[in-house]
Formats: sequence, C-alpha cells, structure tokens
Amino acid sequence: NPDSLALIKQSIKTIPDYPKAGILFRDVTSLLEDPIAYQTTIRAFLEHYQGLGFTKVVGTEARGFLFGAPLALELGVGFVPVRKPGKLPRETIAETYELEYGHDTLEMHVDAIVPGDKVLVVDDLLATGGTIEATVKLIRRLGGEVSHAAFVISLPDIGGEKRLQSQGLEVLKLCE
Ligand code: PRP
Ligand code: HPA
Repeated sequence: NPDSLALIKQSIKTIPDYPKAGILFRDVTSLLEDPIAYQTTIRAFLEHYQGLGFTKVVGTEARGFLFGAPLALELGVGFVPVRKPGKLPRETIAETYELEYGHDTLEMHVDAIVPGDKVLVVDDLLATGGTIEATVKLIRRLGGEVSHAAFVISLPDIGGEKRLQSQGLEVLKLCE
C-alpha cells in the first residue's frame, strides 16, 4: 500500500558525492537499521510473490542477501547466493559482464539450481541492470526458469528496467 512504500522510500538515505563527486548514493543501510521499514519491505515483497509457485530465491552479493534471504524464509523456499569470484566452495559456473570501466564476474554453485526451478531474483538496487542480467544468465544456464526480478529501489533514467525487460523479466521496484 502507498503508506508502506512511502515509509520504505523515506527510510533510504541519499548521500551526496559518494563514492565520488556528483553521485547521489542511495544508502539502504538506513532502511536495515529501522526494523519497521525492514519488515515492511519484506512483507511488501511477500504480498507480491507468495502463492506464485517459486521454488528458489536467488540474491546477489552482498546487499541482495539482506533482502533475498528473509524473503526466501517467508516463502518457505531455499536461498541461493550469487557471489563474487572465488567465494563459493563447490563447483561453480561464472558470467562476466561489462561495467562502465572494466568488467566483473559473478559465480553460482552448479548444483544450486535444478532444471524446472522457478526462480525469483532479488537485489537491493537496480542501476544499469548488469548484475541481474548476469545472474539471470547463470540461472538459465542451469535450467532454471526466471521471469521476475525484485528490487527495493531502482535508479531512474539509466535504463536498467528496460534492459531487464528485454531479457524477459518482469521488474518490481518498491521505490525510485
Ligand atoms: C550494487 C547493488 C546491486 C548493483 C546494481 O552492488 O547492490 O547489486 O550494484 O548495479 P547494476 O544494476 O548497475 O548492476 P555492488 O556491486 O556495489 O556490490 P555490494 O552489494 O557487494 O556492495
Ligand atoms: N546506491 C547503492 N548502490 C549503487 C548505487 C547507489 O546509488 N548506484 C550503483 N550501485
């Protein structure tokens, strides 16, 4: 409901000039520090996604874990972490994606998703969409079905939502 979404938005501080001059950084740590805002966020996702038949929640390191894991518990399904290279101990698959300057790689355990899994992807924030596009590729390579991605906040005007929609994803963001 609108009050919940306003509470969530208000709980996210905006930090000017971090990590560099001219950037307005949206800081979800202030949301996490407010138990009502944090609970309201997880409940908003739950209301949207419960009963849709998801079998796994995937969250991306690090801040995606903070929203994906509590949501997985509430949905009664497993949580799968997507991590930066070298952090996962079993056999992994990797996807490399472009950043503004350079590139980055994400990894997932090969046995974490099984063919036919219906996967919900969760992250704190949508910017360019590169992180979640790579995450979705990992899930699909393992035979998982993924058509929904959920974010607490989306940065407008930089094309992340369109990029994910072009990958066949329905995007939910609780605020901008
Ligand atoms: C941030 C954020 C998202 C991603 C969004 O994570 O938490 O995961 O960037 O950007 P994109 O849509 O342009 O891919 P970051 O890489 O800073 O990692 P962290 O959560 O470990 O701090
Ligand atoms: N906040 C948090 N993470 C981010 C941002 C931001 O404004 N931009 C890109 N990643």
